[in-house]
Amino acid sequence: MKKFEIKTSSKLYPVYYESGLFQKLNLLIAKHDLKQNTFIIIDQNVYKYHNEKIDSFISRLNVKVCLYSINPSEINKSHTQLNDIYSALIENGFGRDTLIVAIGGGITGDIAGFAASTFSRGVNIIHVPTTLLAMVDSSIGGKTGINFESTKNIIGTFYQPDFVLIDTDFLKTLPEEEFICGLGEVIKYSLLIGNGFLKEIKKSLSKSLKLDKKLLLDSIDTCIKFKSGIVEKDEKELNGLRKVLNLGHTFAHAIEVERGHTIKHGQSVIIGLTCSLYLSKKLGILNEKLFKEYLSLFLLAKEKIRLPFFYPVKIYEIMKRDKKAANNKLKFVLLKEAGNILIDVEASKHLVLDSINEGLNHFIVD
Ligand SMILES: NC(=O)c1ccc[n+]([C@@H]2O[C@H](COP(=O)([O-])OP(=O)(O)OC[C@H]3O[C@@H](n4cnc5c(N)ncnc54)[C@H](O)[C@@H]3O)[C@@H](O)[C@H]2O)c1
Repeated sequence: MKKFEIKTSSKLYPVYYESGLFQKLNLLIAKHDLKQNTFIIIDQNVYKYHNEKIDSFISRLNVKVCLYSINPSEINKSHTQLNDIYSALIENGFGRDTLIVAIGGGITGDIAGFAASTFSRGVNIIHVPTTLLAMVDSSIGGKTGINFESTKNIIGTFYQPDFVLIDTDFLKTLPEEEFICGLGEVIKYSLLIGNGFLKEIKKSLSKSLKLDKKLLLDSIDTCIKFKSGIVEKDEKELNGLRKVLNLGHTFAHAIEVERGHTIKHGQSVIIGLTCSLYLSKKLGILNEKLFKEYLSLFLLAKEKIRLPFFYPVKIYEIMKRDKKAANNKLKFVLLKEAGNILIDVEASKHLVLDSINEGLNHFIVD
């Protein structure tokens, strides 16, 4: 079993990762002294595919257990869903001595993390990510959150788990389009890190939109170590370091809202990253040769993400509104070359609009 420790100022906790590791969850709970009333928040699709191993985990807990399943959609990453979780916790007699186990993708992890950080002023939580996106990104770093009206992740907390357990066997049932969403984040990390990791990802993806077993575990290892290194130095996004992780996300969040959340988060990240490559090039930050090289990585997913139409001005207005709400100017995380990221770059409206247009155009059906 691979183990990696994350040392933030609020908590030191391990990430365990390996295929088949879910079987050891009971042992790890005991080892971490977390044998207490357990409230499992699970993605309903994950339960559908993996109910045997979940039921076996529950039968070996020997404490009070409640299984709460959610329908993972951005619409349900909401106050209404959260209130329902609080009601279920209270009605079933859960209190301060609660362990929440979140089993699912980023939606499940974000809402369960928020519930854990607020219920009874904070209870224990373990994350068991089941999508590639959640394994390489959202389960690491302690960001929790829900959407409010049409603004993404605007209500949330920083709350680190007791541990994270990554079992790549869950990916066997993940639909291809969800796997590609995770690949978008892996490509983002390869651009943030550069060097050998970018080369390996390029080489592998040029053959197929899959990662072999070894590269999959290596990618998880590389991404979580890189993200942890940043989170350790800027846990609560106070000194700017954590901003690099938002490469492409200013565009992506606005695209998700413009689409009324009918597009997957990971898909909008891939499109958002494409738009940021265009903006980096237009501002003269990224040279033409590297632009083409990096763009080709995102265009591998082109056939799998098809949009009927879009409104660039609306996307721009949403980006501005979100920044205004945060009392901020519209600034971007951009790329000079892989491993060399610039933060807080301002850009004129017409360059941003052109980048949205050109980036999105790759994904539009005729
Ligand atoms: N907290 C953070 O730091 C952070 C970082 C990145 C993204 N996010 C958030 O993560 C969310 C996106 O997460 P996601 O891409 O994991 O999406 P998701 O949670 O919606 O899961 C995607 C789909 O895959 C299904 N699924 C999950 N695991 C499965 C499995 N093993 N087998 C079969 N189906 C499975 C789900 O039911 C769902 O339909 C967004 O809300 C985003 O804002 C948070």
